[in-house]
Amino acid sequence: MFKNDLLKGKRILVTGGGTGLGRSMAGRFAELGADLVLTGRRAEVLEEAAEEFRKLHSVEVEAIPCDIRDPAAVDAMLDQAWAKGALDSLVNNAAGNFIARTEGLSHRAVDAVLATVLHGTAYVTLGCGKRWLAEGRKASVLSVVTTYAWTGSAFVVPSAMAKAGVLAMTRSLAVEWGGRGIRLNAVAPGPFPTKGAWERLVPREDLADTFERKNPLGRVGDHAELANLATYLLADEAGYINGEVVTIDGGEWLQGAGQFNFLSALTDEDWEEIKPKK
Ligand code: HXC
Repeated sequence: MFKNDLLKGKRILVTGGGTGLGRSMAGRFAELGADLVLTGRRAEVLEEAAEEFRKLHSVEVEAIPCDIRDPAAVDAMLDQAWAKGALDSLVNNAAGNFIARTEGLSHRAVDAVLATVLHGTAYVTLGCGKRWLAEGRKASVLSVVTTYAWTGSAFVVPSAMAKAGVLAMTRSLAVEWGGRGIRLNAVAPGPFPTKGAWERLVPREDLADTFERKNPLGRVGDHAELANLATYLLADEAGYINGEVVTIDGGEWLQGAGQFNFLSALTDEDWEEIKPKK
């Protein structure tokens, strides 16, 4: 889909880059020649991913453990990343989420999600942005949101609030920083199975195929599909895309939205039967 060295010479920071979607996107960037900085809470998973990418793709990969909820730790992580050379891109992938009835949430439960998804994302984006603006450097940011950033969703309310905030940040800064060479975009993935998300969000075996059943394409997403979209939006070749959010969900959220979409359940015989009779 892309020329092999599309991202050669770029240095990309991926938060939550040791596991799940972050790891899949980071691996694709490395395959296309990018050097990486992977950050996340667990040193061992970061180092394991870093080692794999170094071996497979002969690129430079630095693993810097950091809890993005802590602004001082974010600043130290960015100083360390910058010490080996300025970053060109940031992927805001780190997130936290769980399903729960909202009336049962404690204030600590609300904060647990908002602290990572909203505050942590803001700390990392601002930290990178300040450095880029001071250097007069061109850069791009990609944030992973979800389709319920604009529809909202029951049972994941702190996550929906936080992702809506990240989308607002993306659109706001696209205007504020765009003229100074910094593009910000977002992707809104539908269901892309990962161990972390599925353990928390698919609570019972009998609900496991729900995402396939309610998707017009009848399947969940393939990590490679998301990684290619992320690559496209980050690359200089997409330089005129700024402040956009691209949905990649097989049509899932629209399926729930269109007034007459329920008619998908009708068979050929049903359609024959309801046709106006001449
Ligand atoms: C109710 C819960 C809860 C649950 C935690 N809490 N899990 N309340 N239901 N299932 C409450 C705790 O009781 C506690 O409140 C407070 O939240 C903090 O919990 P901790 O475990 O101390 O928090 P922490 O260790 O900081 O963990 C953060 C986390 C955790 C968000 C709760 O799940 C996490 O670190 N997740 C990271 C990975 C992840 O979530 N990946 C999925 C992202 S998917 P009290 O009052 O008891 O002290 C995504 C998009 C989904 O974002 C789209 C899919 C289609």
